[in-house]
Amino acid sequence: MSKIHAVITGVGGYVPEYILNNHELSTMMDTSDEWITTRVGIKERRILKEPGAGTSYMAAKAAEELFAKTGTKPEDVDLILVATTTSDFVFPSCASVVAEKLGVKHALAFDLQAACAGFLVALTNAASFIESGRFKKVLVFGAEKMSSITNYEDRTTAPLFGDGAGVMLVEPTTEEFGVMDSILKTDGIGGMHLMLKAGGSANPASNETIEKKEHYIYQEGQYVFKHAVTNMAGVSAEIMEKNNLSGDDIAWLIPHQANLRIIDATVQRTGVSYDKVLINIDHFGNTSAASIPLCMWEAQDKFKKGDNIILTAFGAGFTWGSVWLKWGY
Ligand code: UT7
Repeated sequence: MSKIHAVITGVGGYVPEYILNNHELSTMMDTSDEWITTRVGIKERRILKEPGAGTSYMAAKAAEELFAKTGTKPEDVDLILVATTTSDFVFPSCASVVAEKLGVKHALAFDLQAACAGFLVALTNAASFIESGRFKKVLVFGAEKMSSITNYEDRTTAPLFGDGAGVMLVEPTTEEFGVMDSILKTDGIGGMHLMLKAGGSANPASNETIEKKEHYIYQEGQYVFKHAVTNMAGVSAEIMEKNNLSGDDIAWLIPHQANLRIIDATVQRTGVSYDKVLINIDHFGNTSAASIPLCMWEAQDKFKKGDNIILTAFGAGFTWGSVWLKWGY
C-alpha cells in the first residue's frame, strides 16, 4: 500500500481592518518609525477592535473564506487544530469555540500551544493524524489576538505584535506531495525569558498581578534574539541538508515574522535567494502562530504544484522547528 501523505488543499485568512501604524504608536509612547523600521522591520500592524471578539472571531472568518473557496462543508470536517497563545478563554479551547461558530458538530477540536512555533507543531500533528488513516479533513489554524496581551505603555514590546488568523485545509493523498518532513525542538532554557507571567496555575490572577502588569507579554529581547537567530537559521539548514535540498531547490522560504534581522540570518544560512522569501512583518507585525499561515494566505496564488517550501519558526519555550512541504495544487 502506498504511504499516505498529508497535503494542504486550501488556504484561508483574516486580518482585522484597523491599522495601527508606527506614527500612531509614536504618539502613544516614546518610540519612532525610524527605530521600529530599522530594528525590527515593522511599519504597521492590524488590531482587532470589535468589542467582545477574541481569537475565534478571526479564525472563524478565515475558515469561512476557506470553506467558500474549497466548497468544504462543516459536516465534512473531522478534526480542528488551533495553534494559539491567545485562546478566547483558558478553557474551553479556542478550537471548540471555532467549531461552534462554524457549525462543525462531528469533529474533534483542540488547541496546541507552542507560541510562535505553534503553527508548525499543529501542522505536524495534523500530518500524523492524517497519516494514521483516521482523519480525512483537518482544519489547521494559526490564530492570535496578540493585542489582548500587549501593554501599550511598554515601548519594548508594544510595537512588535499584531492580530490575525490563517487556516489550512489538510487532506490525505497517496501522491508525493504535502508534508514531507518536519524537525521540531524545545529547550526550556527560554522559559523565563519570554512569557506571560500571570494568569496560569503557578501565578493566578490577583490584584497584585494586575498592578504588576503581569498579564502582558514579558520579553528579554536581546536574549531571545540571540537564540532565535541561531536556532531558526540552524533548523532550516538542518531540514534542507537532511533531505538533500539546496537553496536552488527551494521555491519558497516562509519564516516566522518576529524581526527582519532574524529572517535575514535564516535566508543567508539557507542560501535561498531573497525573492523567494515571504515577508509580512512590515504590514502585519509579529502575529505569533498566525505569521506563517498569513504569509501563505497572501502568497497562495504564486505557489505551483511540486514547489518545495520550507516553513520555519522560533518562539517561547523555546520551541522551534522547520517543515518541508511539497505544494500539492
Ligand atoms: O516571536 C518569537 C520570539 N521573539 C523574537 O524572536 C524577538 C527577538 N528579539 C528582537 O527581535 C529584538 O531584541 C527586539 C526587537 C525585541 C528589540 O531590538 P534590539 O535591537 O534587541 O533592541 P534592545 O532591546 O537592545 O534596545 C536597544 C535600545 C535601548 O536603549 P538603550 O538602552 O540603548 O538606551 C532600548 O531602550 O533601544 C531602546 N528601545 C527603543 N527605542 C525606541 C527599545 N524599544 C524601543 C522603541 N523605540 N520601541
